[in-house]
Amino acid sequence: MTPPANPSGEISLAQALATIAPNGVRTGCRIIREGDEAHLLPEEARSIPARQPAMRRASGAARWIAHRLLADIGISNVAIPRAPSGAPVWPEGIMGSLAHDDNMAVAAVARVGHIVSLGIDVEPAEPLPDDIFAIVATGADRAGAVDRRLAGRILFCAKEAVYKAAYPLDREVLGYEDIAVDLDAGRATTKTGRKVSLAHCVAPRVVVLAFVGQ
Ligand SMILES: CC(C)(COP(=O)(O)OP(=O)(O)OC[C@H]1O[C@@H](n2cnc3c(N)ncnc32)[C@H](O)[C@@H]1OP(=O)(O)O)[C@@H](O)C(=O)NCCC(=O)NCCS
Repeated sequence: MTPPANPSGEISLAQALATIAPNGVRTGCRIIREGDEAHLLPEEARSIPARQPAMRRASGAARWIAHRLLADIGISNVAIPRAPSGAPVWPEGIMGSLAHDDNMAVAAVARVGHIVSLGIDVEPAEPLPDDIFAIVATGADRAGAVDRRLAGRILFCAKEAVYKAAYPLDREVLGYEDIAVDLDAGRATTKTGRKVSLAHCVAPRVVVLAFVGQ
């Protein structure tokens, strides 16, 4: 097993996530380690199509976090398989979301209540390349006062998180152009009219949490 690459990065991201999470939403993170694919429960492993070992490792790390977040609220040994759509399948009465970049996995879970859907995305805290920004941003997006260097990255992360929160409710595949984000207001609207609230952090990584209220 490789030792944790930078456990202090894990601790500070966990703290940043706890700070931005709305009431009732539990979050966690894990540096992706060699062997993390072993954390996939058999049903989860079967539901994830044969892919790059690195992707299975990342999915295992994300589920390692989610299993622990669920255990904290008394739900143990429950698989979170992947639906054919790609969306994770949560136990009855629970919603959540998973994400991973090359090095870090994150997860958020909550009991269904005043929040009915969640999305999360994680990205390195680096400027978004211009060619990707051109695909992601539209005239309807507002970056406002967020860190200018990272505005494109936060916008990208926000759209992915919004998509993950909206898809389980609307079953609609959205493109970047179908989501308008206002980072200052902490809000996004999809082309289906779905209103999504946003919270984000930028250090040690960019993470956006997207949540839909009742
Ligand atoms: C959902 C999606 C945006 C994820 O992006 P990604 O960069 O591949 O991967 P991330 O690490 O951010 O997230 C992966 C997790 O997203 C979740 N996910 C995948 N499809 C999902 C969906 N339809 N709804 C909700 N969550 C979904 C899964 O939990 C997945 O984790 P797993 O592979 O361990 O099960 C992408 O898979 C997708 O479906 N894209 C099609 C639509 C699109 O790209 N539109 C433009 C963005 S708005």
